[in-house]
Amino acid sequence: MRTKVAIIGAGPAGLLLGRLLDKAGVETVILERRSREYVLGRIRAGVLEQGTAELLDKAGVGERLHADGLVHDGVEFCFDGDRHRFDFHALIGKTVTVYGQTEVTRDLMQARDTSGATTIYEAEHVSLHDFDGDRPRVHYVKDGVEHELACDFIAGCDGYHGVSRASVPEAAIRTFERVYPFGWLGILVDRPPVAEELIYAHHERGFALCSMRSHTRSRYYVQVPANERVEEWTDDRFWDELRRRLDADTADNLVTGPSIEKSIAPLRSFVAEPLRFGRLFLAGDAAHIVPPTGAKGLNLAASDVCALAEALIEFYAEHSPAGIDGYSTRVLSRIWKAERFSWWMTSILHTFPDTDSFSRRIQRAEFEYLRGSEAAARSLAENYTGLPI
Ligand code: APR
Ligand code: PHB
Repeated sequence: MRTKVAIIGAGPAGLLLGRLLDKAGVETVILERRSREYVLGRIRAGVLEQGTAELLDKAGVGERLHADGLVHDGVEFCFDGDRHRFDFHALIGKTVTVYGQTEVTRDLMQARDTSGATTIYEAEHVSLHDFDGDRPRVHYVKDGVEHELACDFIAGCDGYHGVSRASVPEAAIRTFERVYPFGWLGILVDRPPVAEELIYAHHERGFALCSMRSHTRSRYYVQVPANERVEEWTDDRFWDELRRRLDADTADNLVTGPSIEKSIAPLRSFVAEPLRFGRLFLAGDAAHIVPPTGAKGLNLAASDVCALAEALIEFYAEHSPAGIDGYSTRVLSRIWKAERFSWWMTSILHTFPDTDSFSRRIQRAEFEYLRGSEAAARSLAENYTGLPI
């Protein structure tokens, strides 16, 4: 088999890249290790920056997003029980849309089915070859039979644990990492959200987040130690802990119910540099990880593949390598700014094991500064709703 761009991974990064290239007439094949059902079973954050929503529109997959997504003008912070709302729309004229990543993935899969582009699910033992020359190849096994996919380019959109980044010679890549000493215990519940907008709460006992998927389905998180076991958390224990970290009004208004999903996610910041190796490009979680505070993961994946699609389309339309030559530098500049923002939000909102009284006062001062300074609030608004792509 032969194609122009072989895309490894059918997460949001691979599927959106496939969609943008498909729309421009650039042929792609996606190889995905898991089944379609498995990919759709993963529960992840659900806040789309304004630019991501616009990009999904441009990709022709915005219909359900506009029908079912919830447009939010702002978010609230709750610091040791003191609440403050940041009105992004009033501050900078921008909004975010709450729409689950699973739904974005579903919409992209649907569009790919309709267009007839090839996706090979349950492709095992994917391996990348000769991407330092003009004729890269990808090998994979499907139903016990080995196949070769010849291509012009390979897009590594296969997440943090994927094969693409791991295929790059060690001397050619540099990585930067911070692992946080805590995780997020999250539950999904078919009950109305406690508030119309998201509440990011800081408390001496740890961070908490009130989020949602719809008017009837809520998503809540509490910070837990990194080595915590989910089995130790009954629903009742979760609700009690969440209430203790919120202000009294919110705690009273919380509508609890049986969890339909409960899991713990570790928190990590990670960036690889560069993101181009000959004819192999890295995008999305294969290239970087952000802690979920600020919900940048999916949005960053979207801006990477937007730039990569533009670069590849330019290569085919104008025979110009300028876009692909500039890809890594262009996207890393935005990636590091999103890394900074996610790290900063994580740092001010969580309780670190070594947080002393000085650090707590500094966290409080950050909150007071954001609450009292329009310039600081505008900076939060600009970063949360998304820097220019
Ligand atoms: N071969 C083929 N596919 C693979 C391989 C492999 N060796 N390894 C991983 N994959 C697939 C995974 O099964 C997954 O479906 O690559 C896909 C990567 O998808 P994601 O992990 O969702 O990453 P990405 O598309 O970059 O999306 C970024 O998703 O993980 C969240 O927080 C992240 O919100 C962010 C967004
Ligand atoms: C979520 O709804 O899952 C969510 C929302 C905002 C975040 C992280 C996760 O910052």
